[in-house]
Amino acid sequence: MRIDILTLFPEMFACVLNTAIFKRATERENVRINVHNFREYTHDRHHTVDDYPYGGGAGMVLKPEPLFEAVDAIKTETQGEGVQPVPVILLSPQGRLFSQQVAAELARQSHLILICGHYEGVDERVVEHLATDEISIGDYVLSGGELAAMVVADAVVRLVPGVLGSDVSAIDDSYATGLLEYPQYTRPPEYQGWSVPEVLLSGNHAIIARWRREQALFRTLKRRPDLLDRANLSEQDKRLLSKK
Ligand code: ADE
Repeated sequence: MRIDILTLFPEMFACVLNTAIFKRATERENVRINVHNFREYTHDRHHTVDDYPYGGGAGMVLKPEPLFEAVDAIKTETQGEGVQPVPVILLSPQGRLFSQQVAAELARQSHLILICGHYEGVDERVVEHLATDEISIGDYVLSGGELAAMVVADAVVRLVPGVLGSDVSAIDDSYATGLLEYPQYTRPPEYQGWSVPEVLLSGNHAIIARWRREQALFRTLKRRPDLLDRANLSEQDKRLLSKK
């Protein structure tokens, strides 16, 4: 998988991309992440990337030309590498809401281009004629798309086969199953008088699996009942929930 990120603040990505999952993913070479400063695609003396909005109003708007040229340069460089058209995703509070399903959908692509918006907005021609998708990471306004791009890249990269230590670790994640994750414990078996549930020390994998499923169901019912409508529930799951 290759991810190209277009931003005016490439330095924001240095630490994140050199740590933990991203570092391992890129070192193992199944993931390549390139951060580009789209200011480099300006041609005037002042390297202007934004301008006043037509019609007046506060704030500045990102100009279309540097973004179109930057995407063009990336597409030219990668021409012939893949047959699918490359998704060009604008991070913005106006986009469709990001979720584990969207992350899984993006993880099936071999190449993504992420555009980080800034200031009051981006010229609408970028939205209409350059971006193929617009994604928001939540109903709040960030000061730029950079943190959103990191969130999207993180959630996507960890789903790329081989990136996590073991491919099963992503399967039980909250949201991957449509349910919140069951509680986890590690040693010591007792800490400040609080014990690890007996069942987890039993060594009986069938009983442990049933307990985990129950916990995931009850936790989801209590904290995020809205998720249960969309979760894949067995008859046994439904019986368990009806007793609560
Ligand atoms: N840029 C500003 N706010 C954002 C959000 N909520 N999601 C994605 N990009 C953004």
